[in-house]
Amino acid sequence: MAAKSKILILGGTGYIGKFIVKASAEAGHPTFVLVRESTVSHPEKSKLIDTFKSSGVTLLYGDLNDHESLVKAVKEVDVVISTLGGQQIDDQLKLIAAIKEAGNIKRFLPSEFGLDVDRHNAVEPVTSFLAKKVKIRRAIEAEGIPYSYVCSNAFAGYFLPTLGQQNVTAPPRDKVVILGDGNVQAVYVLEEDVGTYTIKAVDDPRTLNKTLYLRPPANVLTFNQLVSLWEAKIKTTLEKVYIPEDQLLNYIQESPFPANLQLALGHSILVKGDCTNFEIDPYFGLEGSKLYPEVKYTTVDNYLNAFV
Ligand SMILES: NC(=O)c1ccc[n+]([C@@H]2O[C@H](COP(=O)([O-])OP(=O)(O)OC[C@H]3O[C@@H](n4cnc5c(N)ncnc54)[C@H](OP(=O)(O)O)[C@@H]3O)[C@@H](O)[C@H]2O)c1
Repeated sequence: MAAKSKILILGGTGYIGKFIVKASAEAGHPTFVLVRESTVSHPEKSKLIDTFKSSGVTLLYGDLNDHESLVKAVKEVDVVISTLGGQQIDDQLKLIAAIKEAGNIKRFLPSEFGLDVDRHNAVEPVTSFLAKKVKIRRAIEAEGIPYSYVCSNAFAGYFLPTLGQQNVTAPPRDKVVILGDGNVQAVYVLEEDVGTYTIKAVDDPRTLNKTLYLRPPANVLTFNQLVSLWEAKIKTTLEKVYIPEDQLLNYIQESPFPANLQLALGHSILVKGDCTNFEIDPYFGLEGSKLYPEVKYTTVDNYLNAFV
């Protein structure tokens, strides 16, 4: 069997990045994380960095804005995964330039981990945000860098602990707001599973220059199904307040940032069905749970038990 690729992760100390780092180290890939020197002394992040070190991860000091540090780090590895945050999407052009100069990278996974940015019906301000990721895709393709795009859909930990309700910290127990008619399918994937599927894809020839979609069947649910699942767990029938699309579009326009972004994401996912409203054609993509049936992913049903 071929040796496992050496993987460099940029953004490894971020929200989703830490799960990707953990999955990479656990899968036995020589794993490298580019960190800024200032981050090492950050109280919370230093603890995370210690866990990286104790799982055998190699730290490389650098910065997205320091070209030499990027080229040096990229030359150490075979695969680069970016989990840089929403603020750094455009700046990945600097990483692309470093990958091009280094010339050794077998696969680049840019910071995606959401909807398919080439296939959506989002409105502003989400449209402009997704357009930045589109620009990065086109730059990668124009440079001829081998890639995989990971469309992991909604992170379970972002959405399920509140059932997507605004300004709350726990799932609803009396009343639930439902965007649209609640009959549109969305997909929720636990962050650990995003890490596992992503790392499985990096050395898989089937995902080369393709999009990996995560649609684990038990986690493809309409909002009404999600509410029913929760109601059965808490043995309560919730009052349901439906927000028709027209009204939601008005709310999005009237709301300040970041509420407008959250509502517009809800519109794209829960009203327009952007996680599921297209067939995955093998010409451009593959579905993770079909490619890797051995992964025992966490179901939404199980995940919600923790909140009862
Ligand atoms: N599907 C979903 O539900 C969902 C939800 C949220 C995000 N996402 C997507 O997931 C991706 C990652 O987002 P996130 O929220 O996980 O990111 P995040 O928590 O904001 O993490 C950003 C990372 O980038 C690093 N970074 C920032 N500036 C840097 C620089 N100049 N040089 C090197 N590293 C730098 C940060 O390092 P420090 O630790 O040093 O600050 C941190 O590790 C994005 O594409 C985002 O759109 C998807």
